Amino acid sequence: MSDPERSRRKREHIEAVSVLTDAAQAGFEDILLLPASASEIDVSDVSMRTTLFGRALASPVVINAMTGGTPEALAINARLAQMARRHGMAMAVGSETAALRNPDAASSFRVVRDLYPDGCLIANVGMRATPEEAQQAIDLIGADALQVHWNTAQELFMPEGDRSFRGLLDQLTETCARATVPVVAKEVGQGMLADAARRFLRCGVRGIDVGGRGGTNFIQVEALRAHQAIDPEWERWGVSTACSLAEVLSVASPEVAIVASGGIRTGHDVAKCLAMGATAVGVAGPLLRLAVLPDAEERLDVWATALHATLRTLMVLVGASDLQSLRQRPLLVVGQVREWLELRGLGRCTTQMARRDGSSGRPSFSG
Ligand SMILES: Cc1cc2nc3c(=O)[nH]c(=O)nc-3n(C[C@H](O)[C@H](O)[C@H](O)COP(=O)(O)O)c2cc1C
Repeated sequence: MSDPERSRRKREHIEAVSVLTDAAQAGFEDILLLPASASEIDVSDVSMRTTLFGRALASPVVINAMTGGTPEALAINARLAQMARRHGMAMAVGSETAALRNPDAASSFRVVRDLYPDGCLIANVGMRATPEEAQQAIDLIGADALQVHWNTAQELFMPEGDRSFRGLLDQLTETCARATVPVVAKEVGQGMLADAARRFLRCGVRGIDVGGRGGTNFIQVEALRAHQAIDPEWERWGVSTACSLAEVLSVASPEVAIVASGGIRTGHDVAKCLAMGATAVGVAGPLLRLAVLPDAEERLDVWATALHATLRTLMVLVGASDLQSLRQRPLLVVGQVREWLELRGLGRCTTQMARRDGSSGRPSFSG
């Protein structure tokens, strides 16, 4: 694909996401945190601190991969990097392929490291990137980790997209062996089953971004770009983020960083994912919609402050002073998510989580 074509695609993605609304099928309505009425935690004692890829962070929120490669993308990345720094979040850049092919595009990615010198920053390439390209993407932003995005559904809906996926896991194995930082396998919107997570782990990834259904839907984005209507069945396609997170957690050991993403919108969603066992959560679409506004800085700050305030309030109410104890508080899985997990053989974990009392130290689905 030529550089002008790639730049046009980037612009069209931003335009499409700006007008999209989420399908709200991420499954969080079926995850219930339970109140601890006898909580003795002061609001000021609550810590949301976490560590991701060796960097200490004040927040468990990752600004997930979105853009780069155009002047407009540079401005967006700059606003997002400043927000990440102010609120102690990690940030992933959008696919760096544009910059690997065209050095003029590099500054739109590098700006993120310039503005957030000690930040936890995550590079991003597509599943077709060679190990050499993956390392260039890491070096370009001095990344702490590398996301390799696995966007098969999107590719199949793009007229110019890939149609052949043979041999990509072998290439990922090579990338994991040679990369100077941990590699994360990242799904983009159709979610992941335990078996896919196992395959990625066998390749040597040290993180998984579950990329569940319920947030930005790239099948819809591509349909909008092509001015085509899609069969509504595609809006329901895939594994919801709640189910995808449980599936992935069921096969990952505690050292693997698990990022819950796809439709994370509120402090409640964040708390539920962390209580289920996620290391961190990723948010993209809502931040893009704010980052393009004239008063982006203020809007992004209001968003982050409100989200963190809700998370803090919930932590007091469930009796968790830090994220470690949040992961041990009781949690009910009901409705469709419970049905899914039972049919998939994960029902035992839901019973354990419903009955845990903070003293077992047993982490969520990986039980
Ligand atoms: C405008 C836009 C561009 C994106 N570009 C990339 C990308 O280059 N690489 C990638 O891995 N994910 C990309 N994503 C996907 C997001 O990182 C995220 O996985 C997805 O949007 C689901 O999260 P959300 O529901 O919070 O938006 C993009 C998302 C948006 C909104």
